[in-house]
Amino acid sequence: MCDAAAAEAIQRAIMQWYDAHARDLPWRIGPSARADGKRPDPYRVWLSEVMLQQTTVAAVRAYFERFTTRWPGVEALAAERDEEVMAEWAGLGYYARARNMLRCARIVAQDMDGRFPDTEEGLLALPGIGPYTAAAIAAIAFERPTTVMDGNVERVMARLFAVATPLPGAKAELRTLAARLTPAVRPGDHAQAVMDLGATICTPRNPACGICPLAAHCRARALGLTSELPRKARKPAKPVRLGHVYVARRDDGAWLVERRPARGLLGGMLGWPGSDWCEQPAPAPPLEARWTPLEAELRHTFTHFHLRLTLHLARVEIDAEPARGFFMAEPDFSPAAMPTLMRKAHDLARPVLDRSLRRA
Ligand code: ADE
Repeated sequence: MCDAAAAEAIQRAIMQWYDAHARDLPWRIGPSARADGKRPDPYRVWLSEVMLQQTTVAAVRAYFERFTTRWPGVEALAAERDEEVMAEWAGLGYYARARNMLRCARIVAQDMDGRFPDTEEGLLALPGIGPYTAAAIAAIAFERPTTVMDGNVERVMARLFAVATPLPGAKAELRTLAARLTPAVRPGDHAQAVMDLGATICTPRNPACGICPLAAHCRARALGLTSELPRKARKPAKPVRLGHVYVARRDDGAWLVERRPARGLLGGMLGWPGSDWCEQPAPAPPLEARWTPLEAELRHTFTHFHLRLTLHLARVEIDAEPARGFFMAEPDFSPAAMPTLMRKAHDLARPVLDRSLRRA
């Protein structure tokens, strides 16, 4: 713990560092623009924070630029067709986020006059906005003195106060410590400063303690514990699931694809027909054809399991009638609109099927 004077000294050091070193991010109003009176657009803050859930800043940048160019405000996004938004989201992962994001945009556009709620509680009531996101938007867009906790903030707090309790058990303790440091003035910049500090200085491995603005206050550093903190409880090993996927191409070059059910993994996304993913999947070809299995397995890791898929390829005739899915003409087909796993299957299948079509 720390007393009020120490908390104030830490706040000041964090803010001075941020004013000089804030990352230049496309959704951010940096310290100098802020000093010129600019304020963040809640739509852009919301969109960026939803994208940043479980995804790195590096991965989000390009998606954020494309989304905001195509849909500059919440009304434009809310009016878009689901398929268009899901295709633009493809590759970012955690597709339930995209579906909830659209539901949220439509509620804000239709029921709230296009204005996001300006409190943590109001934000929390919207789809896809959990405690982290509500706190982040309330602080960054609306200057509410919330406590914004993500993995970076947890690591900074665990080291600053030498918290030895392993995560996730330490979460409440770390939140209490972070709350003590939350200032009434510029709470949004404070939250972003701690996140930036965690992302660029107080990194999981090899933290740059030599240039850290909090080095003089850091208990882990004083105790020589930096590399050991935060402690983490052992996670159970991820199980392996198996499955079959089927990539069929018609003589005219069209691909047999399907829209996945809205609920469940990769929900609402375009994919290849296939079996269940389990320990012993039964083959599930979507039509009768001469299927050729690829020797190389397709591997992909989800949050809760590793997946190994056997890929089956077939060239089929123009009058083929699938029991599942539909044929998409080559000019309409874009692997970039598929989730990463399905795109990997495409990348393995295309050379073989292209060759087969050329031989025809
Ligand atoms: N990670 C998630 N949101 C962030 C933000 N607004 N600034 C820095 N890092 C972040």
